[in-house]
Amino acid sequence: MDARYLDWNGSLEILRNAYEAGLFVLVIGSKGTGKTSLVREFARSMEDQNAGALESINFSLRTRESHLVGAKTLSGGDVTFDEGVLVRSMRNGGMLYLDEINAAEADVLIRLDEALDDRRQLVLKEAASGETVRAHDRWFVVASINPLTHSGTKELPPQLLSRFPVRVILEYPPEEVELDIIRRHIGTAHGGMDGDLMQAIRLANTLRQAAAVEELFYSPSLRETIAFGILLGRGVLARKAADWVFGNVYAQWGKIEHQKVNDVITSMFGRSGVTTTTTTAASTGASGTTVGAGIGVGR
Ligand SMILES: Nc1ncnc2c1ncn2[C@@H]1O[C@H](COP(=O)(O)OP(=O)(O)OP(=O)(O)O)[C@@H](O)[C@H]1O
Ligand SMILES: [Mg+2]
Repeated sequence: MDARYLDWNGSLEILRNAYEAGLFVLVIGSKGTGKTSLVREFARSMEDQNAGALESINFSLRTRESHLVGAKTLSGGDVTFDEGVLVRSMRNGGMLYLDEINAAEADVLIRLDEALDDRRQLVLKEAASGETVRAHDRWFVVASINPLTHSGTKELPPQLLSRFPVRVILEYPPEEVELDIIRRHIGTAHGGMDGDLMQAIRLANTLRQAAAVEELFYSPSLRETIAFGILLGRGVLARKAADWVFGNVYAQWGKIEHQKVNDVITSMFGRSGVTTTTTTAASTGASGTTVGAGIGVGR
């Protein structure tokens, strides 16, 4: 087990039940909500129960059928067939993690569909043998999808969706839980930092809410709040860490976008070069006030 992983919403129980029942699982969550960590943690927790090894494939528009199924290769004049990750895991009865499955092209999804239906078998039409591979009894598949608002994502065809009848939703956690997760990642170095960490979580939530209603182009994930905690633990001032981690990224969408976020950061952490604590009303922003160009500071 990874001591840093916190099963805050009971997702492991869902995976365990699905695994035992032989049902495949779909994990739905935005960027950086812990989808990959959850699946890895589940695989680790099953290690001593004779479960198969975890193999993953991360889908993009460039993923081809050959990555999944395999491809012919020529070595020393002989043509052999190198099996892909899907075929390997079916044979070994491993756990297969299909990451961001809704970024895949239709032809790739069709081959997956074939393997994942109730017969759990795949005809290797690419190999000279034309063999039919049948999945091992304990074969287990988890897929993840990003919500459709994410660029490059497509709606999963309904028949493929139905191959994953158990679903897990991952959202950004409540403030206290996010604080706990950050603490786990920065170890013992967090003494006295909770005020600033909590403020960074509130900043992240404000930006997430603004991005959700398309006021901003980017929504910070748990990676950002953890990175903020790591920098703070190394002695970087909160305001600077907030600029580096949360603010500066918006410069890529131009000065106005960057300034909007800069104003929010100033309202929560004080001005650059001015040391503030996060306990004063001035630095936290009064409850419910709207600052910057229309971005509400969540409290
Ligand atoms: N429940 C949790 N407990 C501890 N750490 C977590 C938890 N959830 C997420 N994290 C941490 O947050 C970061 C992002 O998590 P992860 O990579 O699993 O997210 P993801 O949803 O797979 O992201 P992406 O959509 O970008 O692939 C990692 O550093 C991970 O360790
Ligand atoms: Mg991931």
